[in-house]
Amino acid sequence: MRVTDTSDLWWKTAVVYCLDVETYMDWNGDGCGDLEGLAHRLDYLAELGVTCIWLMPFYPSPDRDDGYDITDYYGVDARLGHHGDLVEVIRTAKDRGMRVIADLVVNHTSDQHPWFVSARSSRESPFRDFYVWADEPPAKQPEPVFPDQEDSLWEYDKKTKQYYLHNFYKHQPDLNVANPRVREEIAKVIGFWMELGISGFRVDAVPFFIEQPGFEGPHDYLRSLRSYIGRRSGEGVLLGEVNLPYEDQLKYFGGLDADDELTMQFDFVGMQQIYLSLAREDATPLADTLAARPALPEVAQWANFLRNHDELTLDKLTEDERQEVFDAFAPEERMQVYGRGIVRRLPPMLHGDPRRIRMAYSLLFSLPGTPVLFYGEEIGMGENLDLPGRTSVRSPMQWTSGANGGFSKADPEDLVAPVTGDGFAPSHVNASQQRHDEGSLLNFIRLLIQCYRNSPEIGWGRFTVLEQPDRAVLAHQIENGQGRLVALHNFAPEPATVRLELEDVEPGTVVTSLLDADEYTWPEEGPFEQPLDGYGYRWLRVIRPGDQRLT
Ligand code: GLC
Repeated sequence: MRVTDTSDLWWKTAVVYCLDVETYMDWNGDGCGDLEGLAHRLDYLAELGVTCIWLMPFYPSPDRDDGYDITDYYGVDARLGHHGDLVEVIRTAKDRGMRVIADLVVNHTSDQHPWFVSARSSRESPFRDFYVWADEPPAKQPEPVFPDQEDSLWEYDKKTKQYYLHNFYKHQPDLNVANPRVREEIAKVIGFWMELGISGFRVDAVPFFIEQPGFEGPHDYLRSLRSYIGRRSGEGVLLGEVNLPYEDQLKYFGGLDADDELTMQFDFVGMQQIYLSLAREDATPLADTLAARPALPEVAQWANFLRNHDELTLDKLTEDERQEVFDAFAPEERMQVYGRGIVRRLPPMLHGDPRRIRMAYSLLFSLPGTPVLFYGEEIGMGENLDLPGRTSVRSPMQWTSGANGGFSKADPEDLVAPVTGDGFAPSHVNASQQRHDEGSLLNFIRLLIQCYRNSPEIGWGRFTVLEQPDRAVLAHQIENGQGRLVALHNFAPEPATVRLELEDVEPGTVVTSLLDADEYTWPEEGPFEQPLDGYGYRWLRVIRPGDQRLT
């Protein structure tokens, strides 16, 4: 696909911020975050430089999987507010230059969704074939996604004497996407939220959703969803959760030429290699992976992230590599989950070392693609390992050093989740203090966002890894017609020297260091050399004659 007006493709240079309304800001004092609270924090997000807010599920739900178990696709969980509050959030966000996308969880419903309640009441139910039933589960089954909770993907329903499919928990029966009526319902749900001003969706568990037994043409279906969204709104995106190897992910983009399925996908593979590189203090695993990452068609985009609301999955590493990362960042059993993941946030994993934490975020914002933050990352929140499994990273946002971290005026025992204690407690880590501290992580992230937004080549450009004598250093270049950025990151605590040999740079060319405004000149002879501190990082703009951009 040839793009002529690049300004339409907002997701190519977006800054996505994921939050759960329930744990973000409680305005009515009942202990649960709400939409009104979020509305009061939109200026904070705009100030940070966020351009797209991803709302985790806000629908009515028995909340047995943090809202990913939905009972009404058209509703708003009453604890959070109502449709009017949501529309206010969307409108105010737009006014501040931010779009809102929502989680679309249509691989499964809650077992309390009226469709499933009806479906399991009798084999004759008009909703029976909204779900996937079998007389016997297949002899060979993949391992369940949550192996500590489930031992099968099929659950026996006593009343109707058949098994139903559930790729996730047994209380989350899979919708039968092979049924055209189900597909029609999904289209209506998408259409409904888009009418309310939602700019697209983070699509949950895409491969599970479309690859179902007996469903022919899953990719045709994804293509039809994309074109449906495009017909409803030119700005609509589908940001897919597809944790598969790169060559399979390419198919979910629609292939190199077609570019007509998912608009964006998270880079799970790259994320895991970042942790391996951090653990080894060696940039090679990441450099090799990035070099092999498929270049995408023009409209599509990678969504880069360091952490999200789930476990930090290491499922794409080998057994030994996974163990290396566990040893470095999650040595205790309670820090691990499902034999494949880590239930921690980044700063505690990096022992709170500010140099290393900043290096990691500098890397995130300089990687080709669109960065995604999980709430609290911008202030360096930690996890609460007293909370079970993945919930450890879902503690309330820390706004102030006051009671409940300023999240809520309720009694601490009434909070939807306890606030994190110890070294990462609100007294040490909170947004208010950091806003007024020039040297804070929050202000550093704001600077990164500024530089990222001023460097559209990061979202659009051609990417190359530049070979380095020191294995600890990742040097990468991204360039498009208008600019060239070279980013340097040292994964080791020892200082390093970077050597750049770029044949097409004229001697005397000015090189500006974007994060600290230092300036250098490209040497007359030999390589451009730069010392880099231990865990140092630098973004260099190689200025072309006539380049008028802000540095
Ligand atoms: C996705 C979500 C996760 C949820 C699962 C089932 O992987 O990110 O939180 O538990 O889907 O909906």
